[in-house]
Amino acid sequence: MIVAIDGPAGSGKSAVGRRVAAALGLPFIDSGLLYRAVGARALESGIDLDDADALTELAASIRVEVDGETVRIDGQDYTGKVHQPELSVAASRVARVPGVRRAVVDQLRAMASGDVVMAGRDIGTVVFPEAEHKFYLTASLEERARRRVAQLAARGERPDAEALEAEIEERDRRDSQRAVAPMRPAGDAVVLDTEGLDLEAVVRRVLEQVRRRGGPPDPAEPTARPPATGGILAPRRPRDLPVHDPGRPVPELYGLMRFLVRLLARVYLAGGLLHVSGLEHVPRSGPLVVCANHTSTVDPPLVPAFLPRPDSWSMAKAELLARPGFGAWVLRHYHAFPVIRHTPDRRALRRAAEILRAGGVLVLYPEGTRVGSGGLREAEPGAGFIARTTGVPVLPVTLTGTRECFPKGSWLPRRVRVEIRYGPPLRIRERRPDGRRVENQEAADAIMLAIAEQLPPDARGAYADLVSLRERLRGVWEPVSRPPAAAGDRG
Ligand code: DC
Repeated sequence: MIVAIDGPAGSGKSAVGRRVAAALGLPFIDSGLLYRAVGARALESGIDLDDADALTELAASIRVEVDGETVRIDGQDYTGKVHQPELSVAASRVARVPGVRRAVVDQLRAMASGDVVMAGRDIGTVVFPEAEHKFYLTASLEERARRRVAQLAARGERPDAEALEAEIEERDRRDSQRAVAPMRPAGDAVVLDTEGLDLEAVVRRVLEQVRRRGGPPDPAEPTARPPATGGILAPRRPRDLPVHDPGRPVPELYGLMRFLVRLLARVYLAGGLLHVSGLEHVPRSGPLVVCANHTSTVDPPLVPAFLPRPDSWSMAKAELLARPGFGAWVLRHYHAFPVIRHTPDRRALRRAAEILRAGGVLVLYPEGTRVGSGGLREAEPGAGFIARTTGVPVLPVTLTGTRECFPKGSWLPRRVRVEIRYGPPLRIRERRPDGRRVENQEAADAIMLAIAEQLPPDARGAYADLVSLRERLRGVWEPVSRPPAAAGDRG
């Protein structure tokens, strides 16, 4: 019997896997240790972590033995080394290299020999797609970072919580966006949201599920328990993660709330600090995807507030809407709907398609998260997928100054110049004029290029090289001719 337990950093997959293996009497293998071992050796030998050839050669030439938490490379003990925090990043970087993955996957398959519980990120999808039992553990970034802090604190370390959260976020992103074997739940995996659950509870759920699906019976329990339903045992796909839904928002409230946000912004930034431009570019009816850069908590309220479209809906990270309470109520009424980030969340995609089919506006942030560093970061492919497959106009929006206005951790906004620019819309093509298919990432990059072109050079980050981006993305997008302004529109 093979039990695959996948999930992002800090989701608890190794701790859970170890306990589950012990309960089932199976060996346990933490596959991350092998990538960590390759990373450790690479750092030691001074190999550049971007040098795919050297890393491939290295991975194929070393012999890694894993015995519980003990790791040996070519017979030498590396246990202390591989568990060091800097190895997390090195492991994630070497794990992007296809040759490294091939070598590690071969080793993992050889080590498993039939019955095993294995934890990782691609066990259910790549290493053992035929595994009888597949789990994908999730939890919010904040919770996962908290767990890591507690784990390190228990070892006597005092990690910087904020830096650790940023590191995990970056690692999630790298692991889920790499070209080979990206981290994602297998189609037939049970997705377990472990938010707020302790280790015991998660282990219990996994074991219940294994036994329910024909695994060995629990010797301590002669009569089988009724199968667990609902709760965190979300059947199969991330779209079934529990999300609090109090029903449809009261329609008039959205207009009122947007008005209040505009009022607040104008009053607070009175004296010429607030600049809103480009409203003439916004089509007043018909489906539209609005894509903005995101550097501050105040961006999601501001973008739809000044957009002259009452039929707009914003994608928001599911964590924000997952718990009932006033915050979630406000977000719902501000037309936010949940997306589980870094996954192809089908429910969110379906909802997005419905909004556009109904002729509404979909507001999203292609970078997938708020970027505190100031410059743009590489987009996730999701926005590109939506723009490419629906073919609706995409309106690039840029916000400048909001990060300085409301920096992370501050309670009150600062009075600084804030600019919101609604740019001319573009359309993503399904194919280039020469017939080549447009990839989702290219589509997302084309949107980011339009955003970058509207930003000052020092805010363009990963999209600073406009010249080569324009070259690479030629034919991916086309301009949309300006719609005739409706009577009474002043822009
Ligand atoms: O779970 P971990 O921290 O031990 O894993 C370290 C890195 O190794 C992780 O960021 C990505 C990589 N990894 C992987 O790509 N595939 C796996 N099955 C396990 C780990």
